[in-house]
Amino acid sequence: MLKLPGLIDPHVHLREPGAIHKEDWDSGTAAALAGGVTLILAMPNTNPPIFDAETLDLALDAARAKAHCDYAQFLGAGPAVRATHAPPLPVAGLKMYLDSTFGELRLDDMTLWQQHFRTWPRNLPIVAHSESRSMAAVILMAAIYDRPVHIAHISLKEEVLLIKAAKERGIQVTCEVSPHHLFLTKDDIPSISQGYPGRGEVRPRLATREDVEALWANLDVIDCFATDHAPHTLAEKTGANPPPGFPGLETLLPLLLTASDDGRLTVDQIIEKSMINPRKIFNLPEQPETWVEVDEWARYEIRAAEMHSRCGWTPFDGWQVRGRVRRVVLRGQEACLDGKVLAPPGFGQNVCQGG
Ligand code: DOR
Ligand code: ZN
Repeated sequence: MLKLPGLIDPHVHLREPGAIHKEDWDSGTAAALAGGVTLILAMPNTNPPIFDAETLDLALDAARAKAHCDYAQFLGAGPAVRATHAPPLPVAGLKMYLDSTFGELRLDDMTLWQQHFRTWPRNLPIVAHSESRSMAAVILMAAIYDRPVHIAHISLKEEVLLIKAAKERGIQVTCEVSPHHLFLTKDDIPSISQGYPGRGEVRPRLATREDVEALWANLDVIDCFATDHAPHTLAEKTGANPPPGFPGLETLLPLLLTASDDGRLTVDQIIEKSMINPRKIFNLPEQPETWVEVDEWARYEIRAAEMHSRCGWTPFDGWQVRGRVRRVVLRGQEACLDGKVLAPPGFGQNVCQGG
């Protein structure tokens, strides 16, 4: 039996408020625990988006009533900069959408980026959804305003090399990678799609083999693993106007452990990028008496039908993996046992109480 610390996933989309048929604070945090994740940071591109004190209450009220695991909520950067920045808010940080995404929070006006960088409280992190050139621009902005920026879900060779160069020059930039950008390439799209191209849609898009190899070759540049769990139902993914996004909470750990079994990374790297570094980057408190017990030898097939997420599918369906979560203990309470979530709704705590 392998004992790991509770994992932290710094990038999770729940769909409450607004689209709880895809996921809510109940199903999404149950999926987290089943995957060995004891703390999630929730993204703000809900409906309405979470971008001021009033909309923040919508998310936090739902979380307080329903969350099975610990959590914190990001605020989205919107056009109303002052309303967003009224401190102190109990949030994980500010999320800026600077590129193709799902929802209404995309910011194209670079003067708004500047205002956010200037005025967002310096003790709270900024996370950027930026790709390629917009990533270069936001890293420059971090350098100009002399404050850290965390880059979400990198996927390209040019991105990891840019971040490596920026770090070498002392710019305060950190980054995360999602399992689907480590384990899938664009060549996998036909098999994921099964005749429905919408199933393969995700932002950032799946990249080339060369990109994926560059991510693996520069794993030391990558600070965190983050699922970018983005549940949309199978009906939506196979219908007209399919939204982009893959679920990921329940497949993260078995994929990483299988890679570790294959000699592609170490268990210490899993702990570093799924707990130690996210805790540091997002100033998260320790979760006392919290751990995950994994049967590291169990081989099994990933099956969408066994998942807690409401979305009902996974791009990894049918994959053979090694390493099954057996038991999760969260703050001394047995929170999940053999796939059964035992921590009741409301057990989860907001780990960012404002400041
Ligand atoms: O694929 C994606 N899905 N990329 C995003 O930027 C948003 C996410 C979602 O919320 O569905
Ligand atoms: Zn996301």
